[in-house]
Amino acid sequence: MIRFSENHSLKQHNTFGIEARAKYFFEFTDVEDLSVFLNSNESIKEEKILVIGEGSNILFLNDFDGLVIHPNLPGIQVVKEDRQNIWLEVGAGEVWDEFVQYAVDYQLGGIENLSLIPGSVGAAPVQNIGAYGQEVGNVVEKVKGFDLSNNMLIEFSAEQCDFGYRSSIFKSKLKNSFIITSVVFRLEKFPEFVLNYGQVEEKAKEKGEVNLHSVRDAVIEIRQSKLPDVKDLGNAGSFFKNPEVDIEIAEKLKNQFENIPVYPTKPGKAKLAAGWLIEKPGWKGVREGDVGVHEKQALVLVNYGYSSGQEIFDFSEKIKQSVFEKFGVELESEVNCI
Ligand code: EPU
Repeated sequence: MIRFSENHSLKQHNTFGIEARAKYFFEFTDVEDLSVFLNSNESIKEEKILVIGEGSNILFLNDFDGLVIHPNLPGIQVVKEDRQNIWLEVGAGEVWDEFVQYAVDYQLGGIENLSLIPGSVGAAPVQNIGAYGQEVGNVVEKVKGFDLSNNMLIEFSAEQCDFGYRSSIFKSKLKNSFIITSVVFRLEKFPEFVLNYGQVEEKAKEKGEVNLHSVRDAVIEIRQSKLPDVKDLGNAGSFFKNPEVDIEIAEKLKNQFENIPVYPTKPGKAKLAAGWLIEKPGWKGVREGDVGVHEKQALVLVNYGYSSGQEIFDFSEKIKQSVFEKFGVELESEVNCI
């Protein structure tokens, strides 16, 4: 199936619920259709390109004057198996959390802590989604896709993906020049649970035995208690990254602000909790017009109704400014602002 339209509304394609339009919109369910479409439309190749999955990490500041490509490729297939692991190839268009549910149902471990993250499977490696001590990059074996610079299907090993904290080659060097079509995951038949983040262990134990189902349920419960559901309130999860700073700066801040959360990362570096840095100057729960900081998690900006992308962006800049003035720390957006 293909769908091509002009002046296409993107409201249903971004979880902030921003009313923006794309000059051209192309959706496909078969990789062949993508190459046929691009090869038969010479002029379209000149357009700016934006690839979107579920649109759960994007903020449109304006209409998009170019071609939006929405890969809607389905399917989950076993590609290899041994005593310990199973390798599954999953279409980019599958809904991430439905895939997590599938893995848990088949007793396969490695992504249960990533339950309930909004978005598509194809988007998961782009920003190396992570939560509660797991990151998708740790279970990705390969990423397959279509290289727009030469219209060829190519694949990347996990190492070539260059995964980092909320980053990968697909978000940097290959931004909008590579369309992920499927991802091969290596999951564990005998999972080792990651329980040491926040309340995960406590909540899983409350449910009886610690197993894939109880860990998934624990993560869902924690997320639902803090993070707004995109179905009820427009948002894109964490708007900012947790900033990494030199350890000397972290120590200086610790002397000034006793309770500041500091997580050493690598030698000489530490991460700070952006949520805390935003909450401290009083932003948590603040609303201006239709844009606000979520009342239970200061890292999340929400659209209460009819906010424009620009209003959300301007509001985010004010927060950045205020955090910089108070702590001398520069926040960086996690969300892709277009
Ligand atoms: N904190 C505050 N105030 C807040 C929020 C957090 O003081 O409003 C403090 C907490 O008390 C805690 C620390 O910040 O000491 C960390 O908080 P939390 O465990 O809620 O996680 P986070 O660092 O705020 C990150 C991810 C989330 C992910 C959680 C859980 C980033 C940018 N965000 O948030 O990911 O769900 O950890 O692993 O790394 C996302 O990327 O969209 C996302 C929601």
